[in-house]
Amino acid sequence: MWKKIFGKSDKTNIEPGESLFEQIDRERLPRHIAIIMDGNGRWANGKGMVRSVGHTAGVKALKRTLKAAIALNLEAMTVYAFSTENWKRPATEVEFLMKLFSEYLEKEIAEMDSDNVCIKFIGRVNELSPGLQKQIADAEQRTANNTGVRFTVGVNYGGQDEMMRAVRSLAQDVKNGTLEPDDIDCKLIESHLDTRELPPVDLVIRTSGDMRLSNFLIWQTAYAEFWFTDTNWPDFDKEKLAEALLDFGQRERRFGGLNKKK
Ligand code: FPP
Repeated sequence: MWKKIFGKSDKTNIEPGESLFEQIDRERLPRHIAIIMDGNGRWANGKGMVRSVGHTAGVKALKRTLKAAIALNLEAMTVYAFSTENWKRPATEVEFLMKLFSEYLEKEIAEMDSDNVCIKFIGRVNELSPGLQKQIADAEQRTANNTGVRFTVGVNYGGQDEMMRAVRSLAQDVKNGTLEPDDIDCKLIESHLDTRELPPVDLVIRTSGDMRLSNFLIWQTAYAEFWFTDTNWPDFDKEKLAEALLDFGQRERRFGGLNKKK
């Protein structure tokens, strides 16, 4: 794998087994990574365990990954924790996940705060239980002035739903007479999205083999690079993150323009 990663690189002196994380070029980091943490259920089932065990292991993987993002001083990391479509799962699993989010905030917020992380939630947070909404509001308020990694969690989040809410809000402004349709441009739309304070996504990481976006950040990923791995989310760690970041560092991004050399 290391050969593939460094195939086009000048770093030919790296030996297999050496930490990939240490080899990351800090000058070639994405500003914003977005992660689809998939495969918790498959990970658990593969070990003969129930799906909830996979979700609990997924929390540990999330903690490891956030710590790695902090160590790299990444500007922004956004994760997909629960989609607007995930309500279709059995009630017991939904309840388990909601409890997990609540416990996560309770247990981790102090450390996140001392790590200078600024946490935000995106999605229809107002449809979550009042208790979880309160924890989310407290966590966001507590870390609002932190200047480190902007850590965003999608809960009851869907990209199409987010855009629908933005369109509705713009349509209301037009109806009220405070906005002309011709004044609607990309910047204005972005300012109505849940992610309005974040830079565009540079890199999407999806674990567990499926290669799709699943309604995650559909506007924000317009020019994102994609990186997929068969590894299930609970096995994800900073070395896997390093693989993704090293691969990203090799990509040539043209944003619709031409290669400078051609
Ligand atoms: C996808 O795996 C995972 C989820 C729908 C839940 C993601 C939640 C976590 C990783 C827990 C930690 C998150 C926070 C914010 C504390 P899946 O259940 O779809 O797995 P499968 O595709 O193998 O069935």
